Amino acid sequence: MIADQAEKLRAAVRKDRAATPPPERQRQSRVIAVTSGKGGVGKTNLVLNLALKLAQMNSRIVVFDADLGLGNVDILLNALPEFTLGDVISGEKDIREIMIQGPHNVQIVPGGSGLFELANLDLVRRNRLLGKLELLEMEGEIILLDTSAGISKNVTDFIRVADEFILITTPEPHALTDAYGMLKVIAGQEINRSGYIVINCVRRVLEGERIYERLKNMVQTYLPGMEIRYLGSIDYDPAVPRAVQEFSPFILKYPRSAAAASIDKIAWRLLANEGFQPPPQRQAGLIERLKNLFTR
Ligand SMILES: Nc1ncnc2c1ncn2[C@@H]1O[C@H](COP(=O)(O)OP(=O)(O)OP(=O)(O)O)[C@@H](O)[C@H]1O
Ligand SMILES: [Mg+2]
Repeated sequence: MIADQAEKLRAAVRKDRAATPPPERQRQSRVIAVTSGKGGVGKTNLVLNLALKLAQMNSRIVVFDADLGLGNVDILLNALPEFTLGDVISGEKDIREIMIQGPHNVQIVPGGSGLFELANLDLVRRNRLLGKLELLEMEGEIILLDTSAGISKNVTDFIRVADEFILITTPEPHALTDAYGMLKVIAGQEINRSGYIVINCVRRVLEGERIYERLKNMVQTYLPGMEIRYLGSIDYDPAVPRAVQEFSPFILKYPRSAAAASIDKIAWRLLANEGFQPPPQRQAGLIERLKNLFTR
């Protein structure tokens, strides 16, 4: 009788396994890290507004807030998270319970200090947690990672696990120097040297194009093996800080603003771009890559 039940259980597990394709086949999402050399150049605004625009265009979007500092995605939405990844790590919450549901069904994962804890977990617990995160890859066709600025290990780690990156800068000389510095660091990695450039706070479209050309020439001359593409510029627009103060993404609050029109173009270009050819080492899904990252 007991043996019978055990066999039934085993059969159920076998059936379950057969119904679940291996992680590689489940993976469909495009993972894009948004980063910058200098802080405060518009990453979080780009992430959130681009996420919403893509969602309006019927893509399923997950925003992973990987910024360990302040001024994050949730603040722009006036939705302070009650829980973060840390609560998933401690086993108190499920990943679904910590996700914030943004407008247009955009799902936001507040990483918070949980990201630090992740690095300190023992292997079994970390793998258990990352297993739960696998869900993200099923929830989102595009996963946008909002990183902190600069070349700390955390940021470069997130760029490593992403398929592509978007580097955002303003035309300001310091921001440009730091943007190039960031590209140099990325170029030094063995994987993921392909990314897009966005120039924020431009006074004219031509200004953005000119700056991109300058960056491209430097990359071609000094960073062989790195591939960058222009995703476009965002106009300098008082609607952006106004929307920030109103805790409302500018593409929703001021859909007719110049900045909203800029985001529209960027979203179309991103979708039209099939993405870069993944490097040969890049076989695993996001979660697999996160696991490898933390077990190095
Ligand atoms: N296109 C724009 N026009 C005018 N102001 C802008 C524009 N983009 C961003 N800003 C201003 O810059 C501020 C910083 O933007 P944001 O928080 O998106 O930058 P960040 O790169 O995420 O910063 P951090 O490095 O601190 O995470 C915004 O609050 C806004 O006031
Ligand atoms: Mg930010």
